[in-house]
Amino acid sequence: MTKRILSCMQPTNKLQLGNYLGALVNYVKLQEEGAECLYGVVDLHAITVPQDPQILRQSTRETAAAYIAAGIDPKKSFIFTQSAVPAHAQLAWVLNCLTPMGWLNRMTQFKEKAGKKKDQASLGLYSYPVLMAADILLYQATHVPVGDDQKQHLELTRDIAISFNQHHAKREFFTIPEPFITGEATRVMSLRDGTQKMSKSAESDMTRINLTDDADMIAQKFKKAKTDAGMVPANAAEAQGRAEALNLIGIYAALSDTSKDAVMNEFGGKQFSDLKTALSDLAVAKLSPITSRMNELMDDTAELDKILKVGNDRANELAEPTLNGVMEIMGFWS
Ligand code: TRP
Repeated sequence: MTKRILSCMQPTNKLQLGNYLGALVNYVKLQEEGAECLYGVVDLHAITVPQDPQILRQSTRETAAAYIAAGIDPKKSFIFTQSAVPAHAQLAWVLNCLTPMGWLNRMTQFKEKAGKKKDQASLGLYSYPVLMAADILLYQATHVPVGDDQKQHLELTRDIAISFNQHHAKREFFTIPEPFITGEATRVMSLRDGTQKMSKSAESDMTRINLTDDADMIAQKFKKAKTDAGMVPANAAEAQGRAEALNLIGIYAALSDTSKDAVMNEFGGKQFSDLKTALSDLAVAKLSPITSRMNELMDDTAELDKILKVGNDRANELAEPTLNGVMEIMGFWS
């Protein structure tokens, strides 16, 4: 069986360093290894919470631009926007009807996102993992790189696929996807709280490095990043329980493609300000070509839209056999 990789990002708010190191770098690596890769911008997922349509359309472009700027080559990989491939929504409905509510009740992300206002949360937010299952199963993806916060959704996808295969199809209709957890090594945490993931939706902008931040902003954010009163730890034992120190070390290691140990070797015993200065310089060097490429693409949206049109046409073609098969199996009219 050939490998088919699929992963997606929501076009919500600004993309930040965590998306780059935790996902995009990996997307590019997989592409360069020669796997068949499909990367989606999932705007249907975005409307599980209210969105301004103009901003959503622009954010969708911006996420696609970030993919390309980070090194995803639209000639080698598929880049598509979910809403341009109607089969996602069509398959999601079928899977919704096949998924027991009990399975969804276990999803921790819904509990976190809906919080105490469960009754006001949309049905879409609740069934969002089923739409994600549709994204994956539609393309018969074999491997899905996701952060560890999405692991539960991937397990649900597998359960849904197995259930469909057992109940509706005589043969193995859906490919059972393998998770590909990319989190741990490059899990980027908030610059203000080393126990919270760096997030594009966190309230304070100082918690994250956005892919659109300029050099001054990056320097300022690292300078103000929370640390502790000690020196930079020189080894894993010294780093124990020091979440903020470990985060900066981890970011430095990921950006320079080395290990945390190597970084601790280099900076151990020095002031945090030394590490922060080096980190700012490194981040600016790595991110500025991406930022400027992103800006270029966003300045010429006609060109970007053309690239997306090609990707969307190909995604529609790839999705067609699965959707037709489901229509047939379900007894629908096509
Ligand atoms: N739920 C994922 C997130 O919020 C995004 C996503 C949607 C996704 N569909 C997907 C990821 C399919 C991988 C595969 O991060």
